[in-house]
Amino acid sequence: MTALLGLDLGTTGVRCLAIDAGGRLLADASAEYPLYSPHPGWSEQRPEDWWETSRKVISQVAAEVRGDVRGLGLSGQMHGAVFLDETDAVIRPALLWNDQRTAAQAEAITERVGAQRLLERAGNPALTGFQAPKLLWLRDTEPESYKRLARLLLPKDYIRLRLTGEAATDASDASGTLLLDLRTRSWSPEILEALEIDSQWLPQVFEGPEQTGSLRPEIGGELGLPAGLPVAAGGGDNAAAAVGLGVVREGLASCSIGTSGVLFAHSDKLSLDPSGRLHAFCHAIPDRHHLMGVTLAAGGSLRWWRDLVGIAGYDRLNELAAEAPPGAEGLLFLPYLTGERSPHLDPLARGAFFGLSSRHGLGHLTRALMEGVAFSLKDCFEIMSSLHVAPAQIRATGGGARSALWRQLLADILGCPVVRTVADEGPAYGAALLAGVAAGVFGSVEEACAGISLRSDVCEPDAARTRRYSEYYAAYRSLYPATRSIMHVLSGLAHD
Ligand code: XUL
Repeated sequence: MTALLGLDLGTTGVRCLAIDAGGRLLADASAEYPLYSPHPGWSEQRPEDWWETSRKVISQVAAEVRGDVRGLGLSGQMHGAVFLDETDAVIRPALLWNDQRTAAQAEAITERVGAQRLLERAGNPALTGFQAPKLLWLRDTEPESYKRLARLLLPKDYIRLRLTGEAATDASDASGTLLLDLRTRSWSPEILEALEIDSQWLPQVFEGPEQTGSLRPEIGGELGLPAGLPVAAGGGDNAAAAVGLGVVREGLASCSIGTSGVLFAHSDKLSLDPSGRLHAFCHAIPDRHHLMGVTLAAGGSLRWWRDLVGIAGYDRLNELAAEAPPGAEGLLFLPYLTGERSPHLDPLARGAFFGLSSRHGLGHLTRALMEGVAFSLKDCFEIMSSLHVAPAQIRATGGGARSALWRQLLADILGCPVVRTVADEGPAYGAALLAGVAAGVFGSVEEACAGISLRSDVCEPDAARTRRYSEYYAAYRSLYPATRSIMHVLSGLAHD
């Protein structure tokens, strides 16, 4: 039996799985590693921890799979910076996607490249979480480390280097550096020159289903995998997850509700958001793109609420929310508990319940919170539609998507059917499908995804509720601009 392996290097841990050519799960293993925050707003991990745990989970899966392993695909957390010296030794801990220390460097990038040019080439404004500002931070604040720099990699590509000896990445993950020209899907000479970055430091860019070398023989032996096993370029976690959900053609989008909420829409051609509020990135499919919006506290808002009110399980919260009517009798929630990415790009944004009255109880507040997260994703959906990337079906995934109520709220608020796939195994699953293309098991990503099937419990939007929610959405949408300056004052006062 043919077996394909996928590895996802996440923020809390790494997961490896194996599937057969029909997409059925054969084996699965995961392990966690620590996250370090030596100062407020800093977020780091040790690439050596990634490698040790990756080796462990790959070996576990390899030992369990009885088939003929044909390929391994990689996916992982985006935007991180792994700094290596000329012997490929790690210089310092990696800075992660959620690290906020680089505000000054993000500003410097905008100045040096020019806001308009950056948007046209890299597809996005300079955000603190992206990779390029991290490199400038190293240059500005740790010159001794910077002097030793010979290679800059994204997190999953460090694992690739250890597995294959090749310095390579894929276009979807490379899009999150700010250094890629999205039109050519290769490093932008203009941006590199403006930022004085040596192109020798950067890995070669491949398409997601391309092979980027093969397992080194000694590593293969150690992991229990065939020497020479093809390793696919893979994708950033969101693009790989989208492949795993079959979001590989126009009209399809995925919506993931984990700690953060991600709305990811496939686009055949490059569609840039001129306002920079949505991320425009390459897809993990050759020559395809996507638009993506990120709500930082989606499931994170509900977890905060659950812990605050001391309710043990999400099921009970769902029951409470279901008792309140749509709109929670005039109550709105802004989910900006940890600032917001899309569409406001505002780290100082703050959350709120608005419209409270003495009629409101726990059920109303819980429902308003879940609706607020859906309204925030609607903000992204509206921008996508205005750019003619209008999703006609949303494939939900992540912990929050297991809630039938949340799926129905999304369908009603976005006015779009929401479905789930049978497999729903996340980024590692998409990485395994991409490995299948690299190994020649499938002729294309589309063919690899042809077997992905949907569950029968489709949530169709209810026309009356969609109309009602559009009135609430208009009120929701006016709240941020009306309260932005007060949010900023409060955020400042909190730090005095
Ligand atoms: C995407 C993003 C996160 C990370 C971590 O822009 O920052 O989704 O990829 O998973």
